[in-house]
Amino acid sequence: MSSSPYNPKDYWIEQGRVYKNNFRYNNKFELQERLLIEYLTSNLFPSTYSEVAPVKLSVLEVGCGFGRITKLLLANFGKSITKYVAVDMSPDQIRNAREFVEDPYLNGKATTTTADDNGSRNDNDRLEFIVSDIQSMHSTDASKQRYDLVLACEVLLHVLPSEIEQVVHLLTEMSNKHIINVDWYEEEVPKKIAPHNFIHRYEEIYAKIPSIKQVRRIPIMKKGILSKLDTKQSIFHALKQTD
Ligand SMILES: C[S@@+](CC[C@H](N)C(=O)[O-])C[C@H]1O[C@@H](n2cnc3c(N)ncnc32)[C@H](O)[C@@H]1O
Repeated sequence: MSSSPYNPKDYWIEQGRVYKNNFRYNNKFELQERLLIEYLTSNLFPSTYSEVAPVKLSVLEVGCGFGRITKLLLANFGKSITKYVAVDMSPDQIRNAREFVEDPYLNGKATTTTADDNGSRNDNDRLEFIVSDIQSMHSTDASKQRYDLVLACEVLLHVLPSEIEQVVHLLTEMSNKHIINVDWYEEEVPKKIAPHNFIHRYEEIYAKIPSIKQVRRIPIMKKGILSKLDTKQSIFHALKQTD
């Protein structure tokens, strides 16, 4: 591992080249995905399968990587998603995501734009990929929209402490109602942490934003009679005031 200070952009552009090939699915990812889908089913998409009052939501996912969560959400809630914008700062991750994610309900072709490319965006494309970091999203057309759900899975833990409040503010601004992040969280910060990982106090950060009325934390763990699986991650769900 390099001993130079962590520079998020350099680090994730480099990681993006090999991330998908190096990714190994395990029982912690399985539990994380299962609890996330169960939580979204109960709280955001309760009537997805109801013919009477089907839910319709737009989604902005930041730090989508190769599309693991993008694909999962579209597979589970595709019928209820009106628009899905997936953003990552790594062009390689976005290229992989375009290949990996099949939208079962896609009408048109998925488009890819970059932060400095305003020409090719088409609002009719339900699934859109954007190469940008969250901090530069203000220069994309996608940031001018508001999304019912803004989602970040295993992304905010990699944001520098000096930038985390600003980043959470930006995510909140782009949301109509729900902001969900899935991240490493422990009360006690371990003595040794890799330079690219941080435990942020998400509940406190959200609570400082005037438009946030409620924050929930759901630990991602499973306790059996003889076994326990603790991912040391939590789902954080912030809800905006709507009038
Ligand atoms: C650990 S991976 C998680 C990928 C995916 N969300 C998942 O759960 O499989 C973190 C991803 O966040 C992206 N990322 C990190 N910081 C970012 C930022 N500030 N803006 C946009 N993307 C970022 C990285 O490029 C990387 O693809």
